[in-house]
Amino acid sequence: MWSEEHIETYLKDKLDNKRFLHSLSVRDTAVKMAICYGEDENKARIAGLVHDCAKNMNGYELMNIARKHGYKISSIYEESPQLLHGLVGAIIAKETMGIKDKDIFNAIAYHTTGRKNMSLLEKIIYLADYVEPLRKYPGVEELRELAYKDINKALIQSFDVTIKYVVEKGQMLHLNTIEGRNYLIKIVGE
Ligand SMILES: [Fe+2]
Ligand SMILES: [Fe+2]
Repeated sequence: MWSEEHIETYLKDKLDNKRFLHSLSVRDTAVKMAICYGEDENKARIAGLVHDCAKNMNGYELMNIARKHGYKISSIYEESPQLLHGLVGAIIAKETMGIKDKDIFNAIAYHTTGRKNMSLLEKIIYLADYVEPLRKYPGVEELRELAYKDINKALIQSFDVTIKYVVEKGQMLHLNTIEGRNYLIKIVGE
């Protein structure tokens, strides 16, 4: 597996500066959340650092890599190929960086859409991406606090923000996001 230094050099080369700084910030936030919830700090650190490694690829590249690895490109990915940057990032983490951990793979792969029955690490990376200190959107302070108090409720809120945003833009909703939200609402209500 690549050293963290090697990963950072790669990210600096592949990402614009804003996205690179965001990656470092997600790394640090993910570590804080891992400590808070008793998750492996090192896994959170690596997954947080790497999660957006494919973010600056264009839609054509993203679809190509996903296709080459046997993933079917459904119509939602044709409409919004950027949704593939999680999955393609996970492929790069595994094949280029040599990160073999399945939970890290999934945390990177599903950080864009979420899904039902997410692992603790998946939840941490999804939320760290949402609430890292460089993020600015209405309601972020409240969500930032909630992220350390009730991870499931915070996740539902962040799904709500995403769903509203996608609907407002008139785009398709990814089924994983809806299933992820339904699943958590059931858990939280029990
Ligand atoms: Fe991302
Ligand atoms: Fe991100």
